[in-house]
Parts: sequence; structure tokens; C-alpha cells
Amino acid sequence: MKKSGNSKKICIIGAGYVGLTTAACLAQIGNKVICIDNDLDKIKKLSNKVVPFYEPQLDEIICKSVNNKNLSFSTKINDSIKQSEIIFIAVGTPQKKDGRADLTAVRKVATEIDKVLNNTKKHKIVVVKSTVPPGFSDKIRKIIRNMKVDIISNPEFLREGSAVYDSLFPNRIVVGTDNGRAVQTMRELYDPIINQTFPTDIDPRPTTYVPLVETDIRSAEMIKYASNAFLATKISFTNEIAHLCELVGADITKITEGMGLDKRIGPQFLQAGLGYGGSCFPKDTHALSQVSGDHGHDFKLLKAVIEVNNLQRERFIRKIKKELKSLKGKTIGILGLSFKPHTDDLREAPSIDIINWLIAEKAVVKVYDPKAMENTKKVFKDKIKYCQDAYDVARDSDALVITTEWQEFKDLDLLKIKSLMKKPIIFDGRNIFAQDKTKELGFRYVGVGR
Ligand code: UGA
Repeated sequence: MKKSGNSKKICIIGAGYVGLTTAACLAQIGNKVICIDNDLDKIKKLSNKVVPFYEPQLDEIICKSVNNKNLSFSTKINDSIKQSEIIFIAVGTPQKKDGRADLTAVRKVATEIDKVLNNTKKHKIVVVKSTVPPGFSDKIRKIIRNMKVDIISNPEFLREGSAVYDSLFPNRIVVGTDNGRAVQTMRELYDPIINQTFPTDIDPRPTTYVPLVETDIRSAEMIKYASNAFLATKISFTNEIAHLCELVGADITKITEGMGLDKRIGPQFLQAGLGYGGSCFPKDTHALSQVSGDHGHDFKLLKAVIEVNNLQRERFIRKIKKELKSLKGKTIGILGLSFKPHTDDLREAPSIDIINWLIAEKAVVKVYDPKAMENTKKVFKDKIKYCQDAYDVARDSDALVITTEWQEFKDLDLLKIKSLMKKPIIFDGRNIFAQDKTKELGFRYVGVGR
């Protein structure tokens, strides 16, 4: 990828998945980036090129940019804001008890920025990357009073597990503002990403540019929520069809293959399973539902999407119960803990609900995940048994439950697994195995929607 011909001084506030990846990628294309976090321990680690979570390729590009001095880390927010031309707000907006997004951290950062930039005569841009409800950036405008400072909404669409790829090769860039001058600066900033040649998932022919959608601030904020809500809708819709497949005797994997070939539908996000988890879809669907309610609109479809997602885990638990009857004293092996593959993130992971239920039913729980073992130990401590690999989990188990579709589980030697288990039963929450094959090998196989 070409480097920016117009290197900028950037400050990114928040070193979570979004902030850190954005910082690393903007440094990678040639900008001078300071990434700020108030967690001193995290900043110390990052300064020593230690990434606090697992994300493919991120450590590599952080290491490169720290070495060539394009990227640095600090807790000193004031100095960094002063030195920078563009300031990104990328702090968390976690879900509050009532479902709304907790905007405390964003407000706090905006207040800091206001203090530092109140008297500046220089043109600066504050970019809101944190996911905030439509209209919230107007509130930031009220907090940051200096009109020399432009406010931009630039929502993030990266997925955990492919965050670097998604940042460097996005499907689109969205810039919301009421000021053309600021858009021009954002175009310059993203120029190396916009004007490049690469194949996309959807179209393997090399495309020559990444579209930049220019809009007003509220619409930009809404694009983010609408995109996540729509993807969540695809998943819940598929899971409902999967349930129906079980009732009528059809196979969801074939249904989605047949549906996905229709270009208007597309094959992505049609994977039936245990429902969506992670730090984004559950939080953003709830927040959008609340925003709708706040504006007097009852978003019925979105409420159903959320309800179906919760139900999906319960339905799976009921299947296990129906098959095994009493769980008391039975050994259940869990394969996969993270909410999806290629991450060690456990937030809203279906595995947590399933393990909690198994513990309550007095089952003995053995677990393994390629990346999420450390995080799982923090949650379950000594309530469950931690294994070296999938075979270790299978040993003496009364059943195996697949909760995350890691490739190494797809590649397992199933005959060996069977020889190790007390009873050969697989509950495949992600439909990773061919149903016929597992049956031929002598397993009792229970999937989703087949
Ligand atoms: C999601 C969006 O995909 C990103 O575009 C967005 O930037 C991000 O949220 C965010 O708001 O920050 P992420 O949560 O990392 O990214 O993960 P996804 O790959 O979208 O998966 C979300 C959940 O849906 C996972 O639990 C996954 O297992 C589930 N899923 C996904 C399905 O159950 N079926 C599918 O077909 C696809």
C-alpha cells in the first residue's frame, strides 16, 4: 500500500480494539500517531510493543510503526491533543443496564479536548469513532465550543479477528460532517486506503478505490447502527429458519447455500448457530432499540431480532438437556470459548451462558480454546477444568459441545475423538461437522437447523 503523501499528526484517544487498530493502521500508512489511554499498565506494555489482546497482524504493524517512530503511546492526553491536527475519540460506549449506550467516557474526553483547545487559533478536527447514538455528536459540538475545531463522525466497521485487514481494506469509509473543509482533510488522511487496488470478499476482481460516503453527522452515526442491526437481523432470521428446518426436516446449511447464491441476498451472515455475541451486536441492537423508543418509535423487527438471539442459546441448552436428561456428575467438554474465531474476546460469548448453565446443573465442565483460555480462567476460576487441546477435552467426556468454529476443531481426527470419549455425542452449535460423516463414524450428532 502506498504511503500518505500528506502525513498528518494524529492523536487517538482510547487503546481498545478500535482505537489501537486505527492508530496502528494510520501509522502504517505514514502518519505520526500518538495513541492515548488512561490505563498506565496498558500504555507501558504497548510502548514495549506488547499488545494487550489477541488480534491477528496487529502486533506486527504496531512493532513496525513503533520502531520507525510513526507510532507512540502515552497517558498524557493534553500534550497529545495540543500537538495533533486530527484527534480521534475511540473510547468505549458499553451497554448500560437500561440498554442505552453509556456515553460517560466520550463526554469526559470531549470535555478534556474542550479545555485544551478552547483558545486555539489553529484549525483542528475531532473525529468521533466511538459508536454513539444518532445526534450525540451534536452534543459533542456543544461541549467543544471553539468553532475552529470541526467535528466529524467517522464510524468504524472493523471486525474483531480481522481488524487490521478491515481497516486497511474497508468496504467503505463513512464521513459525517457539516463542513466541507474537514471532509477534504479526511479524504487526504484516508487517501492511501481509498486509492489502492485489491480484491474484496464480494468481488475478487481488483477494485481501484474504496468509496467514501460523505453525509451529515446524524446520518453517519445512523449508518453504523443500521449496519450492525441489519447484520444481526440476517443472523436471527437465519436462526429462525434453522429452527423451522428442524421442525420440517430440512437442512439449514443447504438452505443458506441456496439462498446465498442469490446476489441480492449474498452468502455472508447466514451462518446458523448459537446466535451473535461479542461487544458490538448485542450492545448496538439494544441501543438502537432504545433510541427508537426515545423517539416514540417501536422498532418491532429489531426487538424480535434481539429476542430470537437470546432464545437461540436457550434452544440449544434444551437440546442438550433433552438428549442427556440429567447433567449431574456428567462430564461435558466445551470446544471454543471466544465469541467467534480469531479472537480471545469472551464478551457476550454463548460459551459463557452454556458453561454457567452446566455448572448450575452440576455437570463437570472441561474446556479448551486456542486463544481464550486466559480470559476464561478470569471468569470461571476453578469452577471448570482447563485442557491442553481438544483431545484432552474429549477424554472421558459424556458429550462434546462445539461453541466456536475455530479451524482446528474442523480439522479434528474424529475417530480419535470418539475413541477418547465415554459416550460419542456431539452438540455442534456452529454446524462445523458434516452431519452424515459424524453419523457414519458412530457419533450421535445434534447440530442447529439440520
Ligand atoms: C461487528 C461488525 O461485523 C463490524 O462491522 C463492526 O465494526 C463491529 O461489530 C463493531 O460494531 O465494532 P464483530 O462484533 O467483531 O464485528 O464480529 P462479527 O464478525 O460481525 O460477528 C458478530 C457475531 O455474529 C459473532 O458472535 C458471530 O459468531 C455471529 N455470526 C456472524 C453468526 O452467528 N452468524 C453469521 O453468519 C455471522
